[in-house]
Amino acid sequence: MAQHEDTYKPGSRLEQWLDERLPLTRMMHGQFVDFPTPRNLNYLWTFGGILTFCLVIQIVTGIVLAMHYVPSDKLAFDSIEHIRRDVNYGWLIRSVHAVGASMFFVAVYVHMARGLYYGSYKAPREVLWILGVIIYLLMMATGFLGYTLPWGQMSFWGVTVITNLFSSLDSIIPGLGTKIVTWLWGGYSVSGVTLNRFFSLHYLLPFVIVGVVALHVWALHVVGQNNPTGIDIKTKSDSVPMAPYAVMKDMFALFAFMLVFGWFVFYAPDYLGHADNYIEANPLVTPPHIVPEWYYLPFYAILRAVPSKLGGVALMFGSILVLLFLPWLDTSRVRSARYRPIFKWLLVLFFFSFLALGYLGSKPAEGVYVMWAQIFTTYYFLFFLVLMPIVGVLETPSPMPRSITESVLGEKAASSAMAAKH
Ligand code: HEM
Repeated sequence: MAQHEDTYKPGSRLEQWLDERLPLTRMMHGQFVDFPTPRNLNYLWTFGGILTFCLVIQIVTGIVLAMHYVPSDKLAFDSIEHIRRDVNYGWLIRSVHAVGASMFFVAVYVHMARGLYYGSYKAPREVLWILGVIIYLLMMATGFLGYTLPWGQMSFWGVTVITNLFSSLDSIIPGLGTKIVTWLWGGYSVSGVTLNRFFSLHYLLPFVIVGVVALHVWALHVVGQNNPTGIDIKTKSDSVPMAPYAVMKDMFALFAFMLVFGWFVFYAPDYLGHADNYIEANPLVTPPHIVPEWYYLPFYAILRAVPSKLGGVALMFGSILVLLFLPWLDTSRVRSARYRPIFKWLLVLFFFSFLALGYLGSKPAEGVYVMWAQIFTTYYFLFFLVLMPIVGVLETPSPMPRSITESVLGEKAASSAMAAKH
């Protein structure tokens, strides 16, 4: 872990006793109070804390829901209604969990976009970033499994469509894909058996996420936080202790986030879901448009942009896996897009394409929608695989401050901080 001043003083005799035997409080104090954070962090750096909050909320509400939920094809749908109507505060707990899933994804997208813009994936934060991508994959899996549980029409047909994607492997090894799908379903169609195993895995994965988040935060505390300039901390005046400065800012942002969260929970708890999920699953009636939750839509658009099923599946998984290689695809020596005049606009265009793909994913896969999805999918891959490596070499970065202090206080203050160091 990064070295810094240790201001921990055991307050009571008990703390002192513990400190001499297991210096846990000293370690926590070092990592979450004394820890040097860049003095110029903006509000985009508060989303890591917000994500931690979301994870805890999902686990706590999920455990309570599981006390009343019944993972059976006969009772699952009714048990959700029972939770909403009969269980004390069940309506609240269920809405917090359902809206919470969406809020979690809002936060993770902001968190990832921040990382992309300020080059937080670049050395020495490669492992931190890769762990982030693993968390994101786990979040997607957990969300998908969870959406099955209410056993509504979208649950049932969403699972059917997505699990069926594996059958595309039949075109490589005949029979393999079908075998995998049957194995996943636990039968020859999506059924109560599928629901039961999905419930079990939906309960398990959040705890796996907790484990990976612990590694993520550990890796962060080894290399230290990036910041809007992308310049490393060089002198003491470049940083402030995490508490109270960063912690207070995190708290303020968290309360603002909770206001939005609360608005959805209390005023529009079903707005982010699909109305068809309030119709009980019926294997004999296919909904006219099967759409996943909003946070999967860009990937759904990529899947359907390709005429071949296997090609679509490969591109869809490829669009996430490519993120693992960003630290090496980006050849620029400058981290922050703030000082990268060309890359900045290419990245803005990438964000636009991603949002556009999200919109297209919600539309039927026909005509002009498919054409646009193909254009934006092409840009998605072009951006990472071609533009990122080339622009990093060709682009001339704009003038940068010499230090974090200079970016905040100007040249004079930065020079005296440097002089004080020597
Ligand atoms: C449950 C989900 C996650 C949690 C709880 C979490 C937690 C955190 C925390 C507490 C921080 C430090 C504060 C901050 O910079 O905002 C952080 C930083 C970071 N996270 Fe995450 N994270 C999650 C998901 C992700 C994902 C999906 C990615 C990327 C794919 C990611 C990439 C990063 C990077 C690159 C940093 C360092 C940013 C910097 O210092 O500039 N994280 N994360």
